[in-house]
Amino acid sequence: MKTVNWGILGAARVNQRLLPAIENNQHSKILMLASRRNGAAEECAQQFAKNPEDIKITTQFDDVINHPEINAIYIPLANEEHTEVALKAIAQKKHVLIEKPMALTKQEVESITQAAKDNNVIVMEGFMYVFHPQFDFLLDFISSGKLGKIQYAHSMFSFPIQPARYYRINRSMQDGGGALWDIGPYAIHTLRQVMGGNIKQVSATAKMNSHQADISASGILEFTDQRRATFDISFECTRRSEFELFGEKGRLKCHTVWQHENDEAIISYEIDGSAQVIKKIQKGNHFDLEINHFVECLLNNKESNKLSMNDAIQQAAVMETTYKSIQSNQWVSV
Ligand SMILES: NC(=O)c1ccc[n+]([C@@H]2O[C@H](COP(=O)([O-])OP(=O)(O)OC[C@H]3O[C@@H](n4cnc5c(N)ncnc54)[C@H](OP(=O)(O)O)[C@@H]3O)[C@@H](O)[C@H]2O)c1
Repeated sequence: MKTVNWGILGAARVNQRLLPAIENNQHSKILMLASRRNGAAEECAQQFAKNPEDIKITTQFDDVINHPEINAIYIPLANEEHTEVALKAIAQKKHVLIEKPMALTKQEVESITQAAKDNNVIVMEGFMYVFHPQFDFLLDFISSGKLGKIQYAHSMFSFPIQPARYYRINRSMQDGGGALWDIGPYAIHTLRQVMGGNIKQVSATAKMNSHQADISASGILEFTDQRRATFDISFECTRRSEFELFGEKGRLKCHTVWQHENDEAIISYEIDGSAQVIKKIQKGNHFDLEINHFVECLLNNKESNKLSMNDAIQQAAVMETTYKSIQSNQWVSV
């Protein structure tokens, strides 16, 4: 494969970030954009694409999935719709980039993994933040041992939800609505990345609205070696997009994680009670970097080494466990 010809399923808001990122990639071309709503795909392409005239529009997902020249599909559909559409695309031998959360259950992600193997295609979950240069700095810093073993981490993601987005919380968690499925994947994935190791059990609690969607949730992740990490997410608190880690010898804070607008990142740290160091990290557009990485994977026919399917399965297992803990109000084993 020399050129990645993309098809996009859904006129989603996140396309504002992803359409230009795909267009910026020198090996990529967007051939088609589908929306089930009349006129929505045209509007989305006009609003967000740099070259909307190059993109064919359709209301039929099958036109994209069955298009012989399309070899990669991006799925920014609602969380609960990902699996069915991904399996259809994979069956047509398309590589697939699926927005987070890849699916709502571990079993669904396992079925996507098996289908990808059977059809010899590459699938990746869209956690763009791991491609920001600050994340490479952070992982290197953790492995340098300067902080000692990481014993605890806390992540926080919140913003007041805007009325235009109320449809995200107008359906139950069971149907994919609420904060946990929407912003929780970032807060939890990040804790898994920076702590390392496997999670044994989860205790989480949430404030529900009348639709049984969580508008705020907090939880404790207990690792198999008894280390702990906590998260707090909310659609009703002021903007927070950060996490902090605590090792045996020092602490580190990442001030903005999931909402970078191609700006400089700031990481601060203190080791053994010494003065705080504020580290500025080079600018980076994590959406562009995510697409470049995925395209590189396709051109080399290799699964992502940053976001593997094994990671997606573990992530889904922890997300599903967190959901079950909120529902049961108990510790639940992963
Ligand atoms: N990576 C990131 O930074 C990031 C950011 C936000 C979201 N996400 C993830 O990306 C996925 C999409 O999220 P999003 O917030 O961009 O989704 P969204 O705008 O709510 O759109 C999701 C899907 O719902 C349909 N839709 C959109 N607006 C609609 C409306 N007004 N009425 C009825 N249907 C509508 C669209 O499908 P049709 O066009 O076919 O109708 C669209 O693909 C989710 O999995 C989310 O978790 C990722």
